[in-house]
Amino acid sequence: MLHRINWLALLLLTLSLTVVAEAQTLRDAAAARGLRVGAAVNMNPFRNEPIYSQTLGREFNILVAENAMKFDAMHPAQNTFNFTDADALVAFAEANNMAVRGHTLVWHSQIPGWLTGGNFTRDQVIAIMRDHIMTVVGRYRGRIAAWDVVNEAVSDNNGQLRTDSFWHQRIGPEYIAMAFQFAHEADPDAKLYYNDYSAEGSGAKSDAVFNLVSGLVNQGVPINGVGWQMHQINPFRIQQANRTNAQRLATLGLEVSITEMDVRISLPTTQQELDEQALAYRDVVEFCLSQPNVKTIVTWGFTDKFSWIPGFFSGFGDALIFDMNYQPKPAYSAMLSALGGGTGPPPVPTGLTATAGNAQVQLSWNASTGATGYNVKRATTSGGPYTTVAAVTSTSFTNTGLTNGTTFFYVVSATNANGESANSGEVPATPLAANFSLSANPTSLTINRGASGTSAITITRSGGFSSAVALSAGGLPSGVTATFNPASTTGTSSTLTLTASAAATTGMVSVTVTGTGGGLTRTTTLVLTVNPAPDFTLSANPSSLTVNQGASAASTLSITRVGGFAGSVAFSATGLPSGVTASFNPPSTTGTSSTVTFTASSAATLGSANGAITATGGGLTRTTVIALNVSGGGGGTGGVTITPAINANSPWFNEEVIRLNNTGTITALSVTIVIQRTTGVGFNGQYNTVGGQILQSNTVTAATITYQFTLAAGQSLGMGADRTFAAQTSGAGTIHPTSGDTYTVTYTTGGVSFTQTGHF
Ligand code: XIL
Repeated sequence: MLHRINWLALLLLTLSLTVVAEAQTLRDAAAARGLRVGAAVNMNPFRNEPIYSQTLGREFNILVAENAMKFDAMHPAQNTFNFTDADALVAFAEANNMAVRGHTLVWHSQIPGWLTGGNFTRDQVIAIMRDHIMTVVGRYRGRIAAWDVVNEAVSDNNGQLRTDSFWHQRIGPEYIAMAFQFAHEADPDAKLYYNDYSAEGSGAKSDAVFNLVSGLVNQGVPINGVGWQMHQINPFRIQQANRTNAQRLATLGLEVSITEMDVRISLPTTQQELDEQALAYRDVVEFCLSQPNVKTIVTWGFTDKFSWIPGFFSGFGDALIFDMNYQPKPAYSAMLSALGGGTGPPPVPTGLTATAGNAQVQLSWNASTGATGYNVKRATTSGGPYTTVAAVTSTSFTNTGLTNGTTFFYVVSATNANGESANSGEVPATPLAANFSLSANPTSLTINRGASGTSAITITRSGGFSSAVALSAGGLPSGVTATFNPASTTGTSSTLTLTASAAATTGMVSVTVTGTGGGLTRTTTLVLTVNPAPDFTLSANPSSLTVNQGASAASTLSITRVGGFAGSVAFSATGLPSGVTASFNPPSTTGTSSTVTFTASSAATLGSANGAITATGGGLTRTTVIALNVSGGGGGTGGVTITPAINANSPWFNEEVIRLNNTGTITALSVTIVIQRTTGVGFNGQYNTVGGQILQSNTVTAATITYQFTLAAGQSLGMGADRTFAAQTSGAGTIHPTSGDTYTVTYTTGGVSFTQTGHF
């Protein structure tokens, strides 16, 4: 006996555990009751909004394409099929262990222009219909459990067939039976449905649908069921007429599926209307549970965010079981509990996060399936004890009025009519006064005149400070401007650019960066140094030099570098007198000095000239001038070259000539040639190539002939070459010279007198 009582206790315990483990999703609850519950899929959010497909996978065990399997979508051109969306939908369903309804093969709406405008014969239209059905149904053979083969073939007004349908017009009423035959041929195992709206209860249209399908059954057409679209207007309740209708279809051996349910509400929606709507959905679930031939409920979408209702029925909306934010509505809970699910408390909420602000903490968490509300609880020590601070229906809460600097510990639990879940994991948060600080990196900046530099400004926000911070700079030197990019930000960084004009004040200053926002002002400083632009100057010491012919003189060149100019500077000289060269040691330098040495050849032009020294480097060119005076004091020739020559090519006379080249101006000139009177030699003439300003004379003695050429007083000779002074002798065949024949040339150039002598 004692043993039996223990067994009984164990049995009761097991039962209660079963209750706790009650299904929390529609699909689990429906599966437990042998139902399919599904939704029409809009491909756009299906592909782009993760929560959309997540909710589908979690809540439903059958899917239908809202548009993707319609004729125009799948068969856009006569020889083109597009399976992309349909394939994706079927693959998703299979991956999530869901069934698929195919919607729809033959319908007067959403058929392509190539078909309606194609001028096809009746036989061609039949062939196109057959090809379409064979291709589409064949592709998903064994994978799509049921097809809406023919959709909305019955007229709204008279209970007759819709005669304005393309298919009816081009084929005749037998298009319906044909479509079923073709579909059966393509997939003998698929359940084939006739689908329509406003045929769920009693009335002319329901009767017409019944008559249509009973006719098909009697003809042996392969039809398995009737789809009731179930587009309803709130409030809607299942009536006896619905049950009677389902039962008469059952007598034909036909199934019924609820294929497109929604219950549209006249906007704006009230809580009372949502509760009424819940009754409609609950009724339909209970109807399916009670009717042996009704085992599938599909809603036309599932979230009010994506529903055809607002677009097709102006002023209506909120027709589905999840709201715009994917939160379950009363209609969802009603379906779940009608399916026997959700009788325990909701699962523990997950994903609790806390963000501390100024005297407040923002909390958010993931929705718990089947929850109608949440309790937010707080403690000042980790682990509790917790005090409930709010009961909310959304999945977020902002706890205000908190003491800054105190750490609070939060948990959240989920509630519904069946009770409260355990607490979630705990999260801490410490509210802080709204504040911000500024910092600059780098904190010191060196820029040249004419250039700019940047520093990154960081805004460190605390206590939920989220205001825009406007930035400005003060304490700038004259000629320096500051820009911030951005100038104002709700973010955490900006870039400060400081730009110095060419004339900006140089030196070091402290720049203050000020941020203002949310009633707060914060500053940071950075040290700015403005340097001159890179440059150099050149000077020479001494800056005037005398160079003797045949000698050298040097001057020291100094480079003064500013603005960090570090380039190499190369030297060159121009404007030097003829015969004067300049050399530099070193010829280029990254240092500050070099030596220029001027060397005058013995023939260098005498007199003054300005030699320009040029230094080039870093794209800059600077010059300094050295006043040069080339002097004759060095034993030179004053730029005058004297060349003696002998012309002996005449049988009648010989002559000895002096040729004179001068680079400077000659102001006095005396050329004297003395020839020895050897046997037979006599004076035979003299000439010059200069002209009348040369006075000529000669003196003949027993021993010598002296030829004299003299520049007349007050005359001068400019620069010239090969001026010839010739001493001609008779005495045929007697060749001078002898080393005894001599010349003496005395001249004045550059104010200096020179004498050159020699012999022939
Ligand atoms: C609707 C879709 O929801 C819309 O997105 C589309 O623009 C038009 O068709 N009966 C049916 C469905 O059988 O195919 C219809 O779907 C809604 C009415």
